[in-house]
Amino acid sequence: MSTGESPSEDEVFLEIKNLHLDFSVYQGTVQVLDGIELSMKRGEIFGVVGETGCGKTVTTRSIVRLLESNAVIDEGTITFMGSENLLKIPEDEMAKIRGRKISIIFQEPMTSLNPTMRIADQVGEGILLHFRDDMLKKGIELAEKRGSPLAGLHKRLLETELKSPNSILLKLARRIPFINGYNKYPRNASRIDSVEILRDVGMPSPERIAMEYPHELSGGMRQRVLIAIALACQPDLIIADEPTTAVDVTTQAKILNLLLKLREERGTSILVITHNLGLIAEICDRVCVMYAGQIAEIGDVVDIFNHPLHPYTRGLMRAIHNIGDNKELEEIPGNVPILLTPPSGCRFHPRCPRVMKICSEKRPTLQEMETGHKVHCWLYQEEDA
Ligand SMILES: Nc1ncnc2c1ncn2[C@@H]1O[C@H](COP(=O)(O)OP(=O)(O)OP(=O)(O)O)[C@@H](O)[C@H]1O
Ligand SMILES: [Mg+2]
Repeated sequence: MSTGESPSEDEVFLEIKNLHLDFSVYQGTVQVLDGIELSMKRGEIFGVVGETGCGKTVTTRSIVRLLESNAVIDEGTITFMGSENLLKIPEDEMAKIRGRKISIIFQEPMTSLNPTMRIADQVGEGILLHFRDDMLKKGIELAEKRGSPLAGLHKRLLETELKSPNSILLKLARRIPFINGYNKYPRNASRIDSVEILRDVGMPSPERIAMEYPHELSGGMRQRVLIAIALACQPDLIIADEPTTAVDVTTQAKILNLLLKLREERGTSILVITHNLGLIAEICDRVCVMYAGQIAEIGDVVDIFNHPLHPYTRGLMRAIHNIGDNKELEEIPGNVPILLTPPSGCRFHPRCPRVMKICSEKRPTLQEMETGHKVHCWLYQEEDA
C-alpha cells in the first residue's frame, strides 16, 4: 500500500514538527522531547522504535493531548488530516477527534481498562459518546412508533450537551433500554455493537465476554478488548503503544495480523510503538528510530534495516544481526542519558563511536539523504552558519 517514501505535501496525513516537551518535576525540568519531526501518509503502518524512556509514549500522547498535568509543550505543531495545530485547538474539538478519528491502544491492558465496568460497556462507551445523537434519534423514532413515554426522555437527552464522558447524562443514556429489537440483549444498543466489534477482533464467544469484567479475562483477551475499544468508532488513525508486549507469541501473531487486516480492509493508518525490531520488520512500511527524545533516523523499513545511517541505528542493527550468528550480543556502550540534564547537541554523542567536536556543540538538523530516508547526524551534514 505504501511506497516507503516520505509523504509529499498533498499526502500528509499526520505531521509532527519540531515538538519540544518538558515535564516539571521536583528536581527541575525533565527535557524529554527535543525537536521531534515525523509525518505519516494515509493507510500507512508507521513504526516508532527506541529504548525505554526515549519518549515514544509521550510523543504519541501529545498527538491526542493525553499528557500528565506537569507536561509543558514549549514549541511545535501537530497537524492531522488538514486540521489546525492539534496542540492549540479548543478542548471540545479535541474531544471530538479523540476516540472518533484517532484512538490509542494503550500500553498497559490492565490499567487502561476500568475494573468495575463490563467489557461491553467499555467497548461501547466511545460509540455512545460520539454517536449518541444518532442513537437517540433512532430511539425517539422507535419509541414514537410504539407510543412509548421514553420518546420524551430521549428528546430531552438529545437537547442536552454532553460535557464529559463521565457526565451523569451519559451514564443515564447508557442505562436507557432502547425499546426495540435490541431487547433480546441486555440493556442497550451500544452493547450490541460491542459484541459485533469483539467478534471482529476475533474474540471467542463475544456474547459471553461482553458481559464479563476485565479481571475475568486473560492478558491476550484484554489486549483484544483494548483493540476493540480503539476500533469501535472506526477511527482514521490508530496508535498502538506496545500492542504485543503483554501477550504470548501466538497471540502476538494474531494481533499483528489483526492490525494488518484493519489497514487492508478499512485503510486505517496505524502508528505502532515498540522496542521490538522484529515487529517493525514484520508489519511496518516506514520506521522512525528515536534516541533520548530526538529522532535519529526515519525511512523505509527495508532501507533502514539494510542501510542504517545513524551510528545509533547501526548499533541496534548490529545487536540484532549478531543474534543469528550465535555471537555475543553487541551492546551499545554507555547508558541512556538522564533527561534532567540531557547531553548538549546530539544526545547520542556521549555513546557515539563516530563522535566529533561539533556533535556536543550543536544539534544537527534532520537531513534527507535519499528519497524518504532522513538522518539526524553530523556525519551527513556540513556545518554551515
Ligand atoms: N509525568 C511525567 N513526569 C516526569 N517525567 C515523565 C513523565 N512522564 C514521562 N516522563 C519521562 O519521560 C521520558 C519518556 O517517557 P515515555 O513513557 O515516553 O518513554 P517510552 O519511550 O514510551 O518508554 P517505554 O519503552 O518504557 O514505554 C522518560 O524519561 C519518563 O521518565
Ligand atoms: Mg512507552
